[in-house]
Amino acid sequence: MNSQPRRHATRWIFAGTALWGVLLVSCVMVDRPTFAPPKIAGAKFAGTNECQQCHAQINGSFHDATHARLMAPGENAKNVGCESCHGPGSTHIQSGGAFGTIVNPRLSPETCFECHLEKRGEFSLPHAHPVMAGKVSCADCHNPHRGEMIKGGGTALEAANESCLKCHNSQRGPFVFEHEALRENCTTCHNPHGTVNDKMLRARNQTLCLQCHYQQQTVTGQLLVGGRDHASFVQRGTCWTAGCHEAIHGSHVSSSLRF
Ligand code: HEC
Ligand code: HEC
Ligand code: HEC
Ligand code: HEC
Ligand code: HEC
Ligand code: HEC
Ligand code: HEC
Repeated sequence: MNSQPRRHATRWIFAGTALWGVLLVSCVMVDRPTFAPPKIAGAKFAGTNECQQCHAQINGSFHDATHARLMAPGENAKNVGCESCHGPGSTHIQSGGAFGTIVNPRLSPETCFECHLEKRGEFSLPHAHPVMAGKVSCADCHNPHRGEMIKGGGTALEAANESCLKCHNSQRGPFVFEHEALRENCTTCHNPHGTVNDKMLRARNQTLCLQCHYQQQTVTGQLLVGGRDHASFVQRGTCWTAGCHEAIHGSHVSSSLRF
């Protein structure tokens, strides 16, 4: 196992008396407090290997999962795994997998928030996927058990946009007039977790478009975008609401994505 985090300086400190007796994890990814993983009354940590006998398929592919890279220093390092998201498993195992003996993060994102604290804030913004209401799950867009957590990232085969298009079919082409921006990624313009802007847009005005479209101001007061003077257009509203580029995801009739 490799303890080298890719983006964040991540360090786990385990302070345990007996084997997983008291477990405190401190992720120094951002500025985060110490937390305890999900609790299940009376249950103890059993270790990832113990899940193997009944969930062989999940265990079998877990080795290349993003969260399998997490490592704690010390004796129990190998045990960091399944139970960091599912909570201690001893009661679940003894009962042969009885209902209600283990945490399933599909039903609640709380277990994810314990480490990804800032995501609770993002999903609480005015325009967000309804994860807090239980209508969309983190697992609809992320792979917890195998490969890259972010679909379309790393060596994952699924194109990043596919994970959005399975629910948002009307943004799927082919369009007669495509907007090349969509070849890149839906997340160039949308933050799928949530934003303060309508439609989860990353910016509320033309800044969104000027990430890619160059704007040039001339001495005569023209505002050139794409070779046309936009000086009077930009006063009417946003690029996509002013009656100009409303078919922002692609159009069947207008090369300038008007309808
Ligand atoms: C003795 C067999 C057995 C072992 C060992 C076992 N499980 Fe299970 N588990 C089951 C059964 C049976 C179910 C219910 C049917 C299913 O979903 O596969 C289940 C269901 C689950 C669920 C879904 C629960 C829900 O409410 O949706 C999770 C999560 C889970 N197990 C995690 C684990 C983890 C983590 C471990 C290791 C700590 C583990 N299991 C070890 C038998 C086992
Ligand atoms: C990053 C957190 C995370 C880790 C680590 C993790 N799981 Fe899960 N697990 C989830 C989520 C989220 C779901 C719900 C997935 C869904 O419904 O699509 C889930 C669902 C399950 C289920 C229910 C059946 C299913 O496929 O939906 C089982 C069983 C399970 N996990 C076992 C395991 C085992 C065994 C391990 C370790 C090898 C493990 N999990 C590691 C997050 C995690
Ligand atoms: C015990 C703490 C912990 C829990 C619980 C946890 N994560 Fe993570 N997660 C991490 C750490 C640490 C990383 C960084 C790993 C790395 O970069 O190698 C990470 C990485 C990720 C990434 C990839 C970030 C990137 O930049 O590639 C995603 C997405 C993610 N987690 C989502 C989830 C979801 C969804 C859940 C709940 C089902 C969850 N995590 C539960 C600690 C946790
Ligand atoms: C609607 C789809 C969707 C849902 C639901 C979703 N995510 Fe994400 N998430 C993404 C995408 C796409 C990315 C890649 C971001 C990018 O390309 O800018 C990402 C990136 C991340 C990252 C790494 C980069 C960052 O923003 O920090 C983490 C951590 C993460 N998600 C955690 C979560 C957690 C936790 C949940 C559930 C509470 C969740 N996500 C639910 C789509 C989603
Ligand atoms: C599991 C299904 C699902 C997936 C996957 C999904 N979404 Fe959504 N999306 C929804 C739901 C449900 C809503 C809320 C619709 C509502 O409130 O009427 C929504 C709303 C939106 C909205 C705002 C729509 C509005 O009218 O305000 C945008 C933008 C969006 N999603 C983009 C994305 C992107 C980008 C991705 C991929 C990263 C994605 N979605 C993945 C189900 C999904
Ligand atoms: C070039 C920026 C851009 C890209 C890339 C983009 N969108 Fe959008 N999207 C927008 C804008 C702008 C709106 C607001 C349109 C409006 O209010 O009329 C929007 C609105 C939406 C909505 C709300 C419904 C609607 O049509 O108003 C959904 C759902 C959506 N986008 C999904 C996606 C998906 C899925 C992808 C990737 C396949 C994607 N978007 C890529 C800019 C973009
Ligand atoms: C990720 C980069 C990117 C973003 C963001 C982006 N575009 Fe584009 N757009 C392109 C590319 C590339 C083309 C095709 C080359 C060209 O015509 O400049 C294009 C083409 C267009 C065209 C067609 C031009 C023509 O007449 O052929 C329009 C209109 C357009 N974009 C409007 C917008 C609007 C409005 C926004 C903001 C909501 C936006 N774009 C955001 C990359 C982007």
